[in-house]
Amino acid sequence: MSLANKNILLGVTGGIAAYKSAELVRELVQAGAQVRVVMTEKAKAFVTPLTFQALSGAPVASDEFDAPQAEHGMDHITLARWADAVLIAPTSANTIAKLTHGGADDLLSTLCLVTRAPIALAPAMNQAMWSHPATRRNCETLKKRGILLFGPASGKQACGDVGEGRMFEAHQLLLSLDHLFHTGELDGLNVLITAGPTREPIDPVRYISNRSSGRMGYALAEAARDAGASVELVSGPVDLRAGEGIHCVPVNTAEEMLQAVRRHVDHQQIFISCAAVADYRPVARQPDKIKKLHADLSLELTRNPDIVAEVARQPRRPFVVGFAAETREPEKYALQKLERKQLDMIACNNVADPQCGFDSEENALEVYWPGGHHSLEQDRKPKIARGLIRLIAERYASTHKPGNVTVLKKVKDRNQNS
Ligand code: PMT
Repeated sequence: MSLANKNILLGVTGGIAAYKSAELVRELVQAGAQVRVVMTEKAKAFVTPLTFQALSGAPVASDEFDAPQAEHGMDHITLARWADAVLIAPTSANTIAKLTHGGADDLLSTLCLVTRAPIALAPAMNQAMWSHPATRRNCETLKKRGILLFGPASGKQACGDVGEGRMFEAHQLLLSLDHLFHTGELDGLNVLITAGPTREPIDPVRYISNRSSGRMGYALAEAARDAGASVELVSGPVDLRAGEGIHCVPVNTAEEMLQAVRRHVDHQQIFISCAAVADYRPVARQPDKIKKLHADLSLELTRNPDIVAEVARQPRRPFVVGFAAETREPEKYALQKLERKQLDMIACNNVADPQCGFDSEENALEVYWPGGHHSLEQDRKPKIARGLIRLIAERYASTHKPGNVTVLKKVKDRNQNS
């Protein structure tokens, strides 16, 4: 399941099928997703917010001006940006009409205008309402706009009618949502990623390191796995667990990271060097803890091997993506690194900004490749990672033409549908 660690915003509108959404929340949470529920006023006539709060473990919102919501730092803009996907289940005919016309008279419809995440609707209504020309036309308009429809199913309805308009069952919605994250952009490819910091020991208790949390590299590993790749992650010491299906090789020092990369790089098509590898290490590691004997102490340092440059120098190299962490003149230094290290692509983050880069939840990247550039605007690292994986898939497909016509087609199809 790709739903682990995904942020799912579940909208619930007024309809008897709202009772099925309680089961859906339970299944989403079981699949490892974080769920936030937003209800319309009419939905509350069918199921209480308390039910969803208990199942999701998070406060339920329905009004832009909800005090409890604001207290959790989740105003409507934050909530819209938080979501990896928005699913409205059940979606009433009225909500379909409202979304078609861009209405924003409650929290749910407002969120749908703000979010850049994919939106999916699970319609549930009487069969006559579903087949009404107005609803049919509205659905066509929404589909053209890229909004997905999960269902409806047909069968016996709560009102006694028989026909199309029953909401999909919870497990069907779960599968459809899961499918949304399987892009197929890297189907069948092997991807090696480095993440986190390295630690260069000074003595048995001290080391040189940096503030890398590993979040960016781990998010890339999940995004590459969701895109269909088989992923190996060489990770410095971090407080994170690699996602399901990702093979993780833990290391401490730059030298260990280099050895692990050498062992695993041979069968890879893509190498992404996201680790913040220490550029220098102490010349000698002291066998005992250094005593506080003098006012000053000098440490002699020596350069660490440049892992990404070594991979890029190989005669049969994978597609090599580097990162550049810069505090000034980011474009100039990123382009220099792209050329000097002979990379296929470089993702530059301006780490002078405390909201981005090292040890933060968010990032923003300027991505360069020979003759091209793309900006990934500030967002949560999992979303930035998906954007970068998509760019990598596009570049990989266009530079490795013979066997990758299918990959390029998948990437293009995906972009048209999103
Ligand atoms: O881990 P997070 O808290 O989520 O933060 C993410 C990040 C800021 C660490 C990440 O986005 C990032 O920028 N990683 C690269 C950090 C870095 O070392 O940048 P650099 O400009 O010093 O290095 C350039 C490139 O060379 C990088 O791809 C780096 O992995 C590689 N390198 C550097 C030194 C070295 N000895 N070997 C290398 O392979």
